[in-house]
Amino acid sequence: MLNKTSFQSLSADELLEQFHLSRKYSTDLTLNLSAEDCQAQSMEDASPAKWHLAHVTWFYEVMVLKPFEANFTYWNSEFAFLFNSYYNGIGDKHPRSKRGLLTRPSLVEVLEWRKNIEDRVAKLIKEQFSTELLSLIELGINHEQQHQELLLTDIHHLFSNNSLFPAYAPQSHSISSSEKPFQWMKGVSGLVEAGFEGNGFHFDNEGPKHHALNQTHSIGNRLVSNAEWLQFIEDGGYQNFHWWLDAGWAWLEIEKISAPLYWNKDAQNQLLRFSLDGNLPLDMHAPVSNISYFEADAFSRWASQNLAGFAGARLPTEFEWEAFAKTNTEGSNDLFGKVWQWTSSNYNPYPGYQPWGGIAGEYNGKFMVNQMVLRGSSAYTPAGHSRVTYRNFFPTHARWQMTGLRLAKDGI
Ligand SMILES: [Fe+2]
Repeated sequence: MLNKTSFQSLSADELLEQFHLSRKYSTDLTLNLSAEDCQAQSMEDASPAKWHLAHVTWFYEVMVLKPFEANFTYWNSEFAFLFNSYYNGIGDKHPRSKRGLLTRPSLVEVLEWRKNIEDRVAKLIKEQFSTELLSLIELGINHEQQHQELLLTDIHHLFSNNSLFPAYAPQSHSISSSEKPFQWMKGVSGLVEAGFEGNGFHFDNEGPKHHALNQTHSIGNRLVSNAEWLQFIEDGGYQNFHWWLDAGWAWLEIEKISAPLYWNKDAQNQLLRFSLDGNLPLDMHAPVSNISYFEADAFSRWASQNLAGFAGARLPTEFEWEAFAKTNTEGSNDLFGKVWQWTSSNYNPYPGYQPWGGIAGEYNGKFMVNQMVLRGSSAYTPAGHSRVTYRNFFPTHARWQMTGLRLAKDGI
């Protein structure tokens, strides 16, 4: 479950294998999709599958081939504009909200481009293997894997806009359910170590390792379930401003939010949840998913006063979560592989944080404002991205990602 692999010790052949595996997994994810499915963009936050396939290829072309390949030339220099996501250091870019309008290049051409870049990067690995090249390709692989999760969340959102409710791939990415009774566990308090240390791959935002101070607290042994969330709804939780942050209440009123994203009802009024498996009866024992930070925060305040056994409930800080996860590394207690878990921590740099050098410096650091940290990993997260120090982050209103919550409380 935990990624302890150090790419730094890989041989050229082993790196080549990891590289090809990660490339193949991206195209495998689109095998159940038509060219039309890969083209459409459902909203500004989401990108077309074709764009994801192209953008991760652009990353290798610009970050790896351009600086390392002798006599480098672009496959098509216009693509550097079309498929740049947010790297101002590289130049101008196509507007994010209009990615779905890029009917050219076709999916076929994007796949040809992918093959060309993959072959050229493979040649570099064979002929110019070095520590520096290995580090860049390690980043390229991790970057592509992050986009594999986004590709799934974006297809999920796209298909949810279709009243046919198409199933992407039954049972391939469902959130596993458990009937574990809720229990408060003693959190790790006092001065705790936080952040990544060691040789394995990690993003710059996971370090440096430092100390954080956790007050005495307790933390939930499992995630909040759909059954518990339904109680919140049935108690009028979405209609009572008392539970909501002011910005959250304003968001709820404008967006007319009254349930988690993807909840709906059939003609018999039975509750359903649309997932990549299709539109299925809501699993009451599964963790609630696709809620915003505003909703997670409001739920915790409501639960504190209304849900038996949950007095004092609040969201955990990211350091309470991390300290808890480090004592539960067997993957128990719903830490990984179900839903990302909102924390009450703002996405800030750790003390002593330094972004990576060069263009990759734009990867994380410039987003450290107006976002909240999520910990854990989801059912859509590729292998190797479940780490106790991994910091995901989204704005307070975002809920198209696989996001849920666990509760904490002050004291024991
Ligand atoms: Fe990216």
